[in-house]
Amino acid sequence: VQSFTFCASSHPITYLGATPIFIDSEPNSWNMDPELLEKAILDRKSKTGKYPKAIVPVALYGMPYDCDKIMAISDKYGIPVIEDAAEGCGSRWKGQVLGTFGKFGVLSFNGNKMITTSGGGALICRDAESKNNIMWYATQARDAYPYYQHTAIGYNYRMSNICAGIGRGQMTILNDHIEHHKHVQTLYKALLKDVEGIVLHEAPSADYDSNYWLCTITLDESLKIRGQENAYKEVIRTAVGGAAGVIHMVDNPTTDCQPNENVEALRVFMFSKKIEARPVWKPMHKQPVYKNAPAYVNGVSEALFKVGICLPAGPYVTDEDVRYIVDCIKEAIVK
Ligand SMILES: Cc1ncc(COP(=O)(O)O)c(C=O)c1O
Repeated sequence: VQSFTFCASSHPITYLGATPIFIDSEPNSWNMDPELLEKAILDRKSKTGKYPKAIVPVALYGMPYDCDKIMAISDKYGIPVIEDAAEGCGSRWKGQVLGTFGKFGVLSFNGNKMITTSGGGALICRDAESKNNIMWYATQARDAYPYYQHTAIGYNYRMSNICAGIGRGQMTILNDHIEHHKHVQTLYKALLKDVEGIVLHEAPSADYDSNYWLCTITLDESLKIRGQENAYKEVIRTAVGGAAGVIHMVDNPTTDCQPNENVEALRVFMFSKKIEARPVWKPMHKQPVYKNAPAYVNGVSEALFKVGICLPAGPYVTDEDVRYIVDCIKEAIVK
């Protein structure tokens, strides 16, 4: 599984009692590095005698992974791909929609995604048999008797019909949302083009058609941001994004792997301007909870974590908002 991601990509592996093996990213797409993937597959085989059970690439912030290379490795070793396209709903690789390359594709309809059913998502299957099998497991695995008989442990994981109804309505505006996110990205590009020390993350080539779920920038280490000297001085009492008020208190304002001080200062400055900007995902191989999981790294995701920040891009972000956001970024920079 790609290391540079939200924990929802790797936790299901852990829930199943399996061990996630983390693969670092390529610098251009920020997604799973195919070379490292192959190295990891061969190394696992030599160390454990077994190949990994699945390959889970992630469309980070909507950006496609290199489907050609990852699918070629999948075919070569006979290891199925499960695409985590949770953030990449409607993104395309060489014109083909993400989620349709692997054995399965996963989409998220969480409240913050391209479209929402308040929570939940969808699994893209290639055939009716796997769909039936999966829906059977998702519906407590009931056998065909007039009473409740179970020959497998199932789950209560299916989407409610109320949420599905909302989803059907949301499907009608999906293309508008994708267009909007792409438009916001184009506007950020135009407005940030002369800002020294800031780089907007963009598709490496025309093969990568991102939905730009979130627009992300990286800050040069040498860029000075107002209030930088006060970054990480105080313990924060809330989790990123509020997490519905549910958090685990900490007593230390710092960890051994965190965004640079100028990134934290920019986040704080933006917040004072009523703009929510968040650090990019902290790689899973740097998470204390996964400290014992095998990881195949090249330093890319850790380096991006230190310099990256996500900017608002949702359907309510207007052109005027983007101008205001970029003006605030410029104001935050110490000349
Ligand atoms: C990369 C990634 N995978 C999986 C998920 C899980 O989606 P959900 O929140 O619908 O469980 C999310 C986001 O929430 C995500 O960002």
